[in-house]
Amino acid sequence: MRVLVIYAHPDPDSLNGAIHREILTALSAAGHEVDDIDLYAEGFDPVLSAEERRDYFEPDLNRARVADYAARIEAAEGLVFCFPTWCLGPPAILKGFFDRVMVPGVSFRLEEDGSLSPNLQHIKRVAAVVTYGRSRGILWWFGDPPRRMMTRYIRWFVSRNARIRYLGFYDLHKPDRARSEKFLKRVAKAMSGF
Ligand SMILES: Cc1cc2nc3c(=O)[nH]c(=O)nc-3n(C[C@H](O)[C@H](O)[C@H](O)COP(=O)(O)O)c2cc1C
Repeated sequence: MRVLVIYAHPDPDSLNGAIHREILTALSAAGHEVDDIDLYAEGFDPVLSAEERRDYFEPDLNRARVADYAARIEAAEGLVFCFPTWCLGPPAILKGFFDRVMVPGVSFRLEEDGSLSPNLQHIKRVAAVVTYGRSRGILWWFGDPPRRMMTRYIRWFVSRNARIRYLGFYDLHKPDRARSEKFLKRVAKAMSGF
């Protein structure tokens, strides 16, 4: 399967850096054809400009500015997200990726009657690997926005039958090497069976 990894963390020496490498290695070992958008390494600009906002509902114009990313999403059959939770959401660089690339004409269509239709129905599998400083219980109380973004917001765009897998790693304010090693193994296993 052609799998597009979308990764947002600035530091390759972080836990997320290790998770990212594990994802790439395990997907390739499982025989998948892997493309990798490393947003920080690619210097992705997450800021939606005034011009982009004005053209937001003009598919030909908005697509042209992010054509490379749009083509990479269109070529994929599976998506894997990897990011830490910052201020109850994804890092701003990934939020900006959604703002600028998940636009009409790429990830959804705006129909004549004003209704919206999903446009990523070629995506058959999604996985998200997300880390948190706080506990699962506290995140539940906050509504766990990253989990909802991946399992509800992203779900709407992709194939109705797509399998969505969410691997959340909580409680990292209490670092524990053994737990991290165990989680990396869980990530490798999930990617082997992607
Ligand atoms: C700017 C910033 C904001 C953060 N906000 C949250 C938060 O809202 N909820 C949470 O559970 N953890 C939060 N954290 C903790 C990170 O999620 C945690 O440090 C990260 O997942 C660990 O992965 P890493 O070592 O790869 O960075 C925050 C960390 C930073 C740096």
